[in-house]
Amino acid sequence: MTDAHTPVTEEPTRRDFLYLATGAFAAIGAANIVWPLIDQMNPDASVKALSSIEVDLSAIESGQSITVTWRGKPVFIRRRTQDEVGVAREVSVVDLPDPENDADRVVKDEWLVMVGICTHLGCVPLGQAGDFNGWFCPCHGSHYDTSGRIRKGPAPKNLEIPPYDFVGDTRIKIG
Ligand code: FES
Repeated sequence: MTDAHTPVTEEPTRRDFLYLATGAFAAIGAANIVWPLIDQMNPDASVKALSSIEVDLSAIESGQSITVTWRGKPVFIRRRTQDEVGVAREVSVVDLPDPENDADRVVKDEWLVMVGICTHLGCVPLGQAGDFNGWFCPCHGSHYDTSGRIRKGPAPKNLEIPPYDFVGDTRIKIG
């Protein structure tokens, strides 16, 4: 017989036990998932080595482009003709969607080095294409000029210039 002052204690039922056990396994599972993610954030030596690359440009003819991979991204390297440089320099910069002088986008006039990812939603544009003979992104129709500046279409920014410098007459280090 129980009265109002006697606390009522109940034995845990089998169902309670199952809830407790499931909760414990869920916590262990979450810990197992988090660890590999944290571990991947510590770059090992091979990742650090890839954070910069050197590229030999000597085989690229005037008017040709190559694409290299840097930190998992495509990088376009174009050896521009005199005409392409001239056209890029004639543009009225204030009229551009993302105003930038061509001279501020290059280290040496004839070499244009850019991350090859459209600034709209991340597609890889096609080279020597589009209304401005630069790059064209077929995903939604963005046109970039011979300086990689956005001229027409939905992309908001010019193609990004990665950090790079010349380490020889025809050799660059990106990153
Ligand atoms: S991703 Fe290039 S235009 Fe949309």
